[in-house]
Amino acid sequence: MRTFAKVLAVTAVAAIAVTGCGRSNTTTGGGAAPTSAPAVSDVPASGASGASDTSGTSGASGASGASGASGASGSSEPSGGSGAAAFPADALIGVALPQKTSENWVLAENLFKTDLAAAGFKADVQFANGGVSEQQNQITAMVTKGAKVIVVGAIDGSQLGSQLKAAKDSGAIVIAYDRLLKNTAAVDYYIAYDNFKVGVLQGKALLEGMAKKKPKGPYNIELFAGSPDDANAQVFFDGAMSILKPKIDDGTLKVTSGQKDFQQVVTQGWKAENAQKRMDALLTAHYTSAVLDGVLSPNDTLARAIITSVKAAGKPVPVVTGQDSEVESVKSIMAGEQYSTINKDTRNLVKDTITMLTTLQKGGKPDINDPKSYNNGVKVVPAHLLPPLIVTKENAKEAYANDPTLSPLTK
Ligand code: BGC
Repeated sequence: MRTFAKVLAVTAVAAIAVTGCGRSNTTTGGGAAPTSAPAVSDVPASGASGASDTSGTSGASGASGASGASGASGSSEPSGGSGAAAFPADALIGVALPQKTSENWVLAENLFKTDLAAAGFKADVQFANGGVSEQQNQITAMVTKGAKVIVVGAIDGSQLGSQLKAAKDSGAIVIAYDRLLKNTAAVDYYIAYDNFKVGVLQGKALLEGMAKKKPKGPYNIELFAGSPDDANAQVFFDGAMSILKPKIDDGTLKVTSGQKDFQQVVTQGWKAENAQKRMDALLTAHYTSAVLDGVLSPNDTLARAIITSVKAAGKPVPVVTGQDSEVESVKSIMAGEQYSTINKDTRNLVKDTITMLTTLQKGGKPDINDPKSYNNGVKVVPAHLLPPLIVTKENAKEAYANDPTLSPLTK
């Protein structure tokens, strides 16, 4: 099923890239209330993939089935709930997904459809490839249809306030999925991989990858961030900069273009063509003689666009980071081009979301392992975080051992 889903995902993402479908962005990103940084510790180098039931592999995990392990929920009510059911076991659950900007969203769609049905719920799973207003309308429709929980992967987490308020007013529970919902009181929980840690791992991988090629700096680098309307983009960037900035300050790293601020390095809509254009321009302006040693890329789609640009310019491929473990990037890593990616196994994120839903249905309190870091500008949203894993050619085989689609690529 996963193989099928991945193939579908590749097709869908490729189709989007070709048609250029997606919202032309009109927001400026708001920059409100950046998520404060959760405590960071190294992810174990091996074995601790976000794979099933890795409870205890990371202090922040609280992964599937680890209920009670973190003790951080602040809840005295046991998970699973002994009280009355909060809503019927066959209730409608709405899942509002963003645009298909990476394979993980397509995987999530398929998993939500099958796993919600398997858990006994009715599912209404929607993509909003048309943009923010389409997503607003989808959420409104879910409320009208009587959804008891609405799970939202927002295109723009700051633009759904009135729809989410209407959802709360109807008695529904609102869960922010992967991306935080900002500047609203109408969100109950947040479930995601630890995004700040994703950035930290990317920053560390960039340094490690460059040191392997050239033991001593200074290194010439360029920085890329994701789409400014996605609340995650700033968090990934902040995580990476927590590692890279001290090295920029001490001269080990040189951002040749001088473009170091989030707003200067964002990639609207997470679109490959925007990253490729920016990389083309940077190469022309700053790398006629200088050698580019490394590029911080926030995800795999943009990493491949950056590599395409460098190759088209006839330059050697620098160390480029990524995220999402997309099929084409895992192939690129195994071929020695892209340096790293991040494994945020979508199967586990959906699985934990469904566990949260069934717990809520029974009137219980979900397993929260970070009750205080995710201030959305209006409230602190209780979070259930999963641990991301850095993947390079060195640990790919081990990292994807239980992934039927990716594992064969690492042989
Ligand atoms: C997700 C990333 C993904 C990006 C673009 C982010 O919010 O966390 O996994 O690469 O969106 O789709």
